[in-house]
Amino acid sequence: MCGIVGYIGKRQASPILLDGLRRLEYRGYDSAGLALWSDGGINVFRKAGRIENLRKAVNEISPFGDLGISHTRWATHGAPTDENAHPHLDQSGKLALVHNGVIENYQILKDQLKQDGHEFHSETDTEVLAHLAGTFYDASDEADLKTRLVKSVQEALSRVKGTFGVAVMHADVPGVIVGARLGSPLVVGLGKDEQFLASDVAAIVAHTRDVIYLNDYDLVTLTRQGYEVASLDSQRTARVQVSKVDFTEDDAEKGAFEHFMLKEIYEQPQSIRNALRGRLNRDECTAVLGGLNMSPMELRQIDRIIFSGCGTAYHAAMVGEYLIESLARIPTEIEFASEFRYRNVPTDKNTLQFVVSQSGETIDTLAALREAKRKGLRCLGIVNNVASTIARESDGGVYIHAGPEIGVAATKTFTSQVAIMTLLSMLFGRIHHLSSTDGLEMIDELEAIPEKIESILKQAPLIKSIAEKYAHAEGMLFMGRQINYPVAMEGALKMKEISYIYASGHPSAELKHGIIALVKPELPSVFIAPDDAVYDKNVSNIEEVRARKGPVIAVTTEGTHDIERITDDVIYVPRCKSILSPLLTVIPLQLLSYYVALARGCDVDKPRNLAKSVTVE
Ligand code: M6R
Repeated sequence: MCGIVGYIGKRQASPILLDGLRRLEYRGYDSAGLALWSDGGINVFRKAGRIENLRKAVNEISPFGDLGISHTRWATHGAPTDENAHPHLDQSGKLALVHNGVIENYQILKDQLKQDGHEFHSETDTEVLAHLAGTFYDASDEADLKTRLVKSVQEALSRVKGTFGVAVMHADVPGVIVGARLGSPLVVGLGKDEQFLASDVAAIVAHTRDVIYLNDYDLVTLTRQGYEVASLDSQRTARVQVSKVDFTEDDAEKGAFEHFMLKEIYEQPQSIRNALRGRLNRDECTAVLGGLNMSPMELRQIDRIIFSGCGTAYHAAMVGEYLIESLARIPTEIEFASEFRYRNVPTDKNTLQFVVSQSGETIDTLAALREAKRKGLRCLGIVNNVASTIARESDGGVYIHAGPEIGVAATKTFTSQVAIMTLLSMLFGRIHHLSSTDGLEMIDELEAIPEKIESILKQAPLIKSIAEKYAHAEGMLFMGRQINYPVAMEGALKMKEISYIYASGHPSAELKHGIIALVKPELPSVFIAPDDAVYDKNVSNIEEVRARKGPVIAVTTEGTHDIERITDDVIYVPRCKSILSPLLTVIPLQLLSYYVALARGCDVDKPRNLAKSVTVE
């Protein structure tokens, strides 16, 4: 969602700030702005729409400034207009502030400030925070201006309810940026005589790989020479740890690909290898997942598993449910994270909770984690972003090691999450019912998956031509059974989010219970029907659609040519163990949605209204 970039150093700040914002574009935004400190004054630029609009406005003046803060805004309070874009100024016009998160009590604070004569120029909650901080600054008699700014930010934040990641600067306090976080990520980048502040490390990795991931309640003061971290909460001491970013600037670039999404689809053979590396034990015929932080005895006591996540992560968890129940026979439930947090799910000491999240920052998933911990559950993360809040707050877990995923539509992280679910099912399976022969077969089959994905990717031209044929469909249905039902859900989600075609995913047999009423020539159905135990059942459902003149695209196993008789288009995937088929069947669906979106002229990497990381409820 919103993004923050701050810079203080010897270089021109505006190119660094604009480039940082560009690297955060994938998170989703609808306006952008920046504030630059120069010669005792602050220049503020704010523009609705793309960062390009802001760049033009800044370049018209080309102001000098070696300190600045910038922001991409995803509208919550107030429309995406120039006026509502950040930074916002206080009443004096000297304090500038950018903010991610939501100030829940902003209206009460705004009314009070208005009574005191404050004038507001936007509809945002953020402007209230700027005015509040400015009020404390102006009222302070602290002689040291840096301390005065820090304290005023501290005072203001102590009055607000809600979540925040903020960056603040003041015209009278040269050489200082103050940042703080509660519920919205913030990272400090350390350079030589220059420091960076960002909501996402991708914004600053081109300049430094030495970073400090701030924790909730941390308040940081940046100067050219260094940083100080304090706590907003007097009950707790801030803990600072300098980390090395494990990816480079190039990993977060498109390279030769037209879109990040396409690049990430093609990265899947490698990202799955990364997820499996060092985690398969051929001697014991099992998986090794040390990050779970659980002894064999503790693992054996687990008699119920709950997975929570949102969107694609939820679909991966659905696959996980099938895997664990089949291989380990442990009752497994999946809960939308947003529902789990408000439900009173019965649990006991032998229940193990997993939260699944690419970003590790999704607010609902984080809340599910906190709720589970509040109830005394052991809660583990299946996370991509190693420095994320979920990774840090969970009791342990498994990193999926997929590398940065920039496309808003999750692709490689789905298959990596499913790979991890497979490892979990093998681990739990081997301490319960799974034989060593079956464990070894799983290892062999898993290791063969990346190559099989490579062969599917070679069919991109065919999938593109199918996509072009259906690009203007009224809608699309996705059908699958058993472990491929979640794949149908995932295929529909991909189609909706990047092509804006209404699509829905269903268990194939549900067709007759209502969905079939929709079937007509303008509404294609995509059947995920590999050659497995339910193949014949899927074929019957395809016949039902055909009988009503609904076009059918099938994703099936190589060699299953009889399906061509009853379908309009077929995409073949290599044969694999049925339980691993989601790792293959999802690939054509990702490519199908990509090429449909392309044919419809949609902005594949930055679909409208969406944000990569959903940090508001
Ligand atoms: O970062 P997370 O995995 O927690 O994100 C969860 C969902 O917001 C995410 O999967 C979303 O549904 C994607 N845009 C799907 O492509």
